[in-house]
Amino acid sequence: MMRRLDPCTLLIFGATGNLARLKLMPALFRLDAENRLPDEAKVLAFGRRPWDKQQWVDEVAGMLAAKYKDGYDQAAFDRFSEKLEYHQGDLEDDETFQGLSRRLQEDDRFPRNLLHYMAVSPSEFGSVMEKLGEAGLLSEKHGWHRVVIEKPFGYDLLSAQTLQNALLRHARENQIYRIDHYLGKATVRNVLVFRFANLLLEPLWHRNYIDHVQITHSEILGISGRAAYYDRSGALRDMLQSHLMQLLTLVAMEPPVGMDAESLRDEKVKVLKSIRPIPQNAVHAHAFRAQYAPGHVEGHAVAGYQDEAGVASDSATETYAALKLYIDNWRWKGVPFYLRTGKRLAESSSAICIRFKHTPQQLFGSKSKAEALKPNWILLGIQPNNCLKMEIQVKEHGTAMKTRVISLDASYDDKSSSSADAYEDLILDVIKGDHSLFLRYDEVEWAWRVVDPILKVWSMERDFINTYPAGTWGPRGTYRLFDREDQFCRHSLSLEGSDVSSEAF
Ligand code: BG6
Repeated sequence: MMRRLDPCTLLIFGATGNLARLKLMPALFRLDAENRLPDEAKVLAFGRRPWDKQQWVDEVAGMLAAKYKDGYDQAAFDRFSEKLEYHQGDLEDDETFQGLSRRLQEDDRFPRNLLHYMAVSPSEFGSVMEKLGEAGLLSEKHGWHRVVIEKPFGYDLLSAQTLQNALLRHARENQIYRIDHYLGKATVRNVLVFRFANLLLEPLWHRNYIDHVQITHSEILGISGRAAYYDRSGALRDMLQSHLMQLLTLVAMEPPVGMDAESLRDEKVKVLKSIRPIPQNAVHAHAFRAQYAPGHVEGHAVAGYQDEAGVASDSATETYAALKLYIDNWRWKGVPFYLRTGKRLAESSSAICIRFKHTPQQLFGSKSKAEALKPNWILLGIQPNNCLKMEIQVKEHGTAMKTRVISLDASYDDKSSSSADAYEDLILDVIKGDHSLFLRYDEVEWAWRVVDPILKVWSMERDFINTYPAGTWGPRGTYRLFDREDQFCRHSLSLEGSDVSSEAF
């Protein structure tokens, strides 16, 4: 039987910002339309504009119209709008929070369990927490009080520690839910099932058999008007320290004691702690950055990064980052993990590609170099398609003992999960009080420890950055990171991608 969810009030700080507009409000609408939100739930938007409830409802209707170009269910929206409320105020103003607290106590339509969603800029997290704390909205005297914060969790190791101290002044760690929306993606969760529900793979998941692992996220899009944030962040902070590093922990972790949040997160932290530190003088051997120059995307000419609105013409912020990491533990010693991400690349996709070693002896076919380079791959496609493939060699038709590669495709098309946004499940997890898909502070801190030396070196090298034409697979310089000649960037999950010819950019 499904557990009944606690009634709760979801307070959205930053309700008219990008995150609320594009992800949060659509996710809440869909949850409600599918009757997955508690009936008594209220969604209380906190905003500066002098709106009443109806103006907020109209605003949300506009958000949904922009998101669902083919329309959305009006009857479902009418029901959802009954849950919507608005509270006008200034995030800087103590009195506003006192007023909010009074309203929540006096109006018994608002359930006492409070979910505070910080869809505000990270620089405001600390002060909003302080004001919530002072207004008694984090005290948990009546019902639970939970806080959801979005990455970035700090800007580097030091600022992450400062942010954590600010959070802990008003809340306990188990009240805090740090979202990394990649952990809510269906295929990302499937990585755990794939690894820990199939005994077959366990002995192979090891340095004795695996040559290297590639974790790649590529995007066709540029910075989509987010210069103010992105130019201070860059690809390493925006994608790699967070989403890609999380994927790495799932691929590399040991089987957890159980599937509860602490057991899972303990194992993930162990992986992060085992990553070999990169000394500053080795940064160039382990990391490569670049920035997109003008180019063509889907047949249209697009501007280079430095020409984007809001970006300085001499900006050295990376829009592409590649990293080689080693995990110095029993299972992974010596196996390189290549993490790569970029904006304005040739395709939008995310995948984990695991390449196996060559067989010890080449018994079939010619012994030419090209023939020899056909190791097995396991491919986990995260988006746009959930897929799970395994490339193996079979005998060619005919009498000769020649081999060819085929792809065993265990992909399943789970329409319900592929159309759902990661945010939907994550919001429900917060209401359930389940931390398993949220980051514990030590994960954040250890991930910063890995990238901090790179950030330091790159921040000192502001005079030059490599470029790549927009719409290509990125800079050739990435190849510098590969340990051996037979390693290459795997761009495609289809069979052609397994060919060394995909080395060409
Ligand atoms: C966000 C980054 O966290 O993730 C964006 O800030 C990036 O720059 C986005 O585009 C990618 O997420 P998704 O779900 O579209 O792959």
